[in-house]
Amino acid sequence: MKTSAIAHSNIALTKYWGRRDAKLMLPDNSSVSMTLDRFFSHTTVEFDPKLKSDLFVLNHKSISGGNERIEFERFMNRVRSMAHSSLFCRVESKNNFPTAAGLASSASGFAALALASSKAAGLDLSGKELSQLARFGSGSASRSVFGGFVEFNAGIKKDGSDSFARSFANEAFWPDFRMIVSIVSLERKKWNSRIGMDATRTSSPYYPAWNKTANADTKKIKRLIQKKDFSGVGKLAESNCLRMHASMMTSDPALFYWEPVTLEVIKSVIKWREEGLESYFTIDAGPQVKMLCLKKNERALVKRLNKIKGVQKTVTCKAGPAARIITEHLF
Ligand code: DP6
Repeated sequence: MKTSAIAHSNIALTKYWGRRDAKLMLPDNSSVSMTLDRFFSHTTVEFDPKLKSDLFVLNHKSISGGNERIEFERFMNRVRSMAHSSLFCRVESKNNFPTAAGLASSASGFAALALASSKAAGLDLSGKELSQLARFGSGSASRSVFGGFVEFNAGIKKDGSDSFARSFANEAFWPDFRMIVSIVSLERKKWNSRIGMDATRTSSPYYPAWNKTANADTKKIKRLIQKKDFSGVGKLAESNCLRMHASMMTSDPALFYWEPVTLEVIKSVIKWREEGLESYFTIDAGPQVKMLCLKKNERALVKRLNKIKGVQKTVTCKAGPAARIITEHLF
């Protein structure tokens, strides 16, 4: 049956960077994220006995080769094997935001695909099973299955059965918490996360230190979120992000995901904070800066951010909902 789903992207407050098992897509450290209300992927899937191969259209473009195609087919083969099916499918997906620019399009994309394709194949997966399926597409996608604030447990088992995400506070939990996304460049990133994190893990002398502190940070930030301690969450998210970027920059090859304007926003955030306007930054494998703030400071911060040359657009997000089935189809 033709099935459609929506999943929102998420931004990590403590990052996942490093895989302990590349084949099973198992992270080396646990992470915590916030699901974003404003950015999402919409995906429609239909298995069709008449098809001789899978059809995949992403953002109105047919994907017939390259990495995206390989990853998509590998994912669909997993769904087919779970459903004991040999049928090919037609898939259309679109993002309401730029793809592969550090805004977690693979997270929302694979979470939406996991939900729509499993349902279309006749499977009725639990949240945990969906999160594990999404993880095979992209580690961060395991978090986009859920809404609000989400923890992705790295787990320790070899078979990955304890590696999945779950929400520990829903989207209504902290209504004043905001994430302002500043878009500073729409170029596709040079090193995708997978290549980047594998290079960091195998070549940065700082990786072991990163890994150790990342796990400790994740435990701490969960408690701070539960207490709604904004300053605590912000400080920890910022230092966790900088430690990840330090390990990236000391890899071989050295991975610089920032643009000059990224640093300008970082420095501005610190300066504004010293002046009493409290916010914190976090940055993923791309140049965009995501700022954490409370509702009372949102307007003033957006106004200041928009004055920085090079900031092309700002989008203010709140915590968003879990992935869900919708009746609107893309074909
Ligand atoms: C910096 O989940 O995109 O955004 O598992 O290889 O698909 P793969 O990587 P991905 O990596 C996310 C990296 C990050 C941090 C995070 O979201 O936790």
